[in-house]
Amino acid sequence: MTHPTQVKLVDVGPRDGLQNEQQTVPSAIKVELVHRLQAAGLKAIEVTSFVSPKWVPQMADNAEVMAGIQRQSGVRYSVLTPNLKGFEAALASKPDEIVVFGAASELFSQRNINCSIDDSIERFRPVVAAARAAGIYVRGAISCAMGCPYEGEVSPERVERVARGMKDIGVQHMGVADTIGVATPLKVQRAMEATLRHYDINDVSGHFHDTYGQALANTLISLQMGIWQFDTSVAGLGGCPYAKGATGNVATEDVVYLLHGMGIDTGIDLDKLVDAGQFISNFLGRKSNSRVATALLNKRA
Ligand code: HMG
Ligand code: MG
Repeated sequence: MTHPTQVKLVDVGPRDGLQNEQQTVPSAIKVELVHRLQAAGLKAIEVTSFVSPKWVPQMADNAEVMAGIQRQSGVRYSVLTPNLKGFEAALASKPDEIVVFGAASELFSQRNINCSIDDSIERFRPVVAAARAAGIYVRGAISCAMGCPYEGEVSPERVERVARGMKDIGVQHMGVADTIGVATPLKVQRAMEATLRHYDINDVSGHFHDTYGQALANTLISLQMGIWQFDTSVAGLGGCPYAKGATGNVATEDVVYLLHGMGIDTGIDLDKLVDAGQFISNFLGRKSNSRVATALLNKRA
C-alpha cells in the first residue's frame, strides 16, 4: 500500500461548518475560530463566502470576518464566490484563493446556485478570469459528485463533464465533493478518476461530508490513489443549507489522527486543534462531532 508522505488540509469549518447554523454566530467568534485554527498549524482556512445573504444569512458578515483576521504568514485564506458580484465584493478582503462551486447534479445546481450546470460554468468564466488577472488562485468544487439529495445516483461521466468545463475556463484546482456524505470508497475512486482525466493529481482534493460515517474510508482510498489534499472541518461542523439532512464535513481532528497514525505529516498540533474544536462546540452548545476529539477530551478528564 502506498500513500503520500505529506498531506495538506483545508479547514472549511468557519465556512462550510458554520454556514448552516441557525443561531447567529457573531463575527468575533468566527474570527477567533480562524485564529485558533492557524495557531493549531492549519495552513489553509476557508473563511467565509460572498454569496447572497438572502440565501445564506450566516455568511452575511463575510467582509467583517475577513477584516478581523490577523493573518499569519504561510497561511492561505479562501472564500467562496458564486458570481462576479460575489467576487467583486470579495476582492476588497484580499483572499489568497477563491472557490467557484458547481455541481454534477442538475437539480442541486438549481437549488444551490439557482442556475443550470452549463449556465454556472458560463457564470464562473469571468470570475475565474478576473481572479487570475488579480493573481488570486482559483479552486473549484464539484458538489454531489457521488450522490445527490434530489437525483440520487450521480455517474462519473457527469463528474467528468463538470471537471472538463471547469478546466476549460481556467479553474486551477478541483475539489471533488460528497455533499451529502453518501459515498463509499469505490464510488469515490470512480469520481476521482473522472476528475483526474482533466486535472493533475496535485490539483485534486477530496471534500467528504460524513453523514453515513464513510468519510475516513473515503479519505483513505483517496490517499491510496495519491491524492494528498482534503477539506475537513474542525469538530465535524457543517452542512449545506440546500442539502437537507446532510451532516458536517469529516472532522479535521479525525483525519489528523488517521494521518499521524500512518506516519503522514500534516504540520498540525492535534491538542491545539482539539482546543479549537472545543471552543466552537462550547459556543454552539453542542458536543463535538469528532470521535477523536471526544476520546482525547475524555482522556484529559
Ligand atoms: P440569484 O437570486 O439567482 O441571484 O442567486 P441574482 O443574480 O438573480 O440576484 C438576486 C439578488 O441577489 C440581487 O439583489 C443581487 O444583487 C443579489 P436584489 O436586487 O434582489 O437586492 N446577489 C448577491 N448578493 C450578495 N452576494 C452575491 C450576490 N449575487 C447576487 N454574490 C446566487 C444566485 C448564486 C447569488 C445564490 O443562489 C446564492 O447565493 N447561492 C449560494 C448558496 C450557498 O452558499 N450554498 C452553500 C455553499 S456551497 C456548499 O456548501 C458545497 C461545498 O461545501 C461542496 C460540497 O460539499 O458539495 C462547497
Ligand atoms: Mg461542503
